[in-house]
Amino acid sequence: MDASEALMILTALAACLVWFKLIVRSLNGPRVWPLLGSLPGLIENSNSTYQTCTAAIPFLARKQGLVTVTCDPKNLEHILKCRFDNYPKGPNWHAVFHDLLGDGIFNSDGDTWLFQHKTAALEFTTRTLRQAMSRWVSRAIKYRFCPILESAQLQGKPVDFQDLLLRLTFDNICGLTFGKDPQTISPGLPENCFASAFDQDTEATLQRLDHMDKYLSEIINTRKLELVSQHQGETPHDDLLSRFMRKKESYSDEFLQHVVLNFILAGRDTSLIGLCWFFWLASQNLRVEEKIVTEIFTVLMETRGADTSKWIDEPLVFEEVDRLIYLKAALSETLRLYPSVPQDSKAYCLEFKPERWLSKDNKNFEPKDSYRFVSFNAGPQICLGKDLAYLQMKSIAAAVLLRHRLTVAAGHRVEQKTSLTLFMKYGLMMEVHPRNLKSVLEKKHAKLRKMGMLEFC
Ligand code: HEM
Repeated sequence: MDASEALMILTALAACLVWFKLIVRSLNGPRVWPLLGSLPGLIENSNSTYQTCTAAIPFLARKQGLVTVTCDPKNLEHILKCRFDNYPKGPNWHAVFHDLLGDGIFNSDGDTWLFQHKTAALEFTTRTLRQAMSRWVSRAIKYRFCPILESAQLQGKPVDFQDLLLRLTFDNICGLTFGKDPQTISPGLPENCFASAFDQDTEATLQRLDHMDKYLSEIINTRKLELVSQHQGETPHDDLLSRFMRKKESYSDEFLQHVVLNFILAGRDTSLIGLCWFFWLASQNLRVEEKIVTEIFTVLMETRGADTSKWIDEPLVFEEVDRLIYLKAALSETLRLYPSVPQDSKAYCLEFKPERWLSKDNKNFEPKDSYRFVSFNAGPQICLGKDLAYLQMKSIAAAVLLRHRLTVAAGHRVEQKTSLTLFMKYGLMMEVHPRNLKSVLEKKHAKLRKMGMLEFC
């Protein structure tokens, strides 16, 4: 190479560098390097929390591994809303989950997704679906979850909250989806082959799919007979499967099975993981825990009076749950820091501060811009079960914290297990202590007395 060629190459390189520097100056987010882009930053932060969204690159989605990662709300809006059609899940995703989820709402793009989304979206706005969720949650809390916690408290034995909540949320979502509670949260914590078939660690074996197939075929056939023989005046089934079946008689059994499996997948791990991280964060942040408990007490004092035995007779009803705005803020803050579906989102500021979700006077919950808080996704594919999830998580959180104080069992390590969903690697072993209702009440009274406000309480 002679001197003039070398000079030309150097000039071209220098021009590229200047051009690169100019472009980079206007970019937000992780540092961008020549040729490597933001890859070093991504690798560095792969195990920590960072506000990102991963989407397959348009047209190149067929090539496995080619994804774009962004943390800018404007890009998130572009991907999740404006050019939503350009960023499908893609054939690789579809192939991996096809055996389990078929062409269900979680595993389809285009018209197949749109049709199911529209049908489901209509059902998710009904008051009766909310009432159904409230019923399934309250029953499981009262008759099975609370007795298990009480016996753990009396025996002084730590319990794995991740396992208990997995069972509880599985029972709830089965009730809501096909109207039958498999009661996997029961004394003795029984094995259930339908539930274990969902276990992430279990391989997608033919035997496993066979179990699901048999279980669901029976349910669908029974429901078909019940719908045909239903008499006028009888209360109709209010689960999602029956709602789909009433819409059109000609859905194939295979389609209905996939509807059921997709809803169970949508609503089990997501709520469970949110709750698990919430209980852990609350046990580490006593200031926040006290505010949550005080809020529950204030509401119950108004709705059930000063006799504390009435507070724990029955789980909170919808109107009581609805008033717990600080609890909702604490759950949202948990999902911001530990999003149940981490591939879709991670968080920026690492401080656990529920107050950031409240109005300045702390009286109202203020939702964040959905492209900054993407734990429930955003745009056309936003989570349809968001309100139901809050109802369920608030009911469970309030039931536990009203009765118990939780501490992490000695020597237990809490670590993230990075997979499609953000489980805890070693579960969540918790010691269950009684909550002293009287002492919290006295503290609250003392505070109000100091402020000269007791007469209003
Ligand atoms: C804390 C709890 C929950 C979180 C964090 C959550 C999060 C999400 C996310 C991130 C998506 C988008 C998934 C994708 O990329 O395709 C989604 C979709 C969905 N979720 Fe949830 N979810 C929760 C609870 C629930 C519950 C309890 C239900 C049902 C009762 C539910 C029903 C759905 C459905 C049907 C979709 C599909 C929406 C569509 O594609 O049109 N979710 N959810």
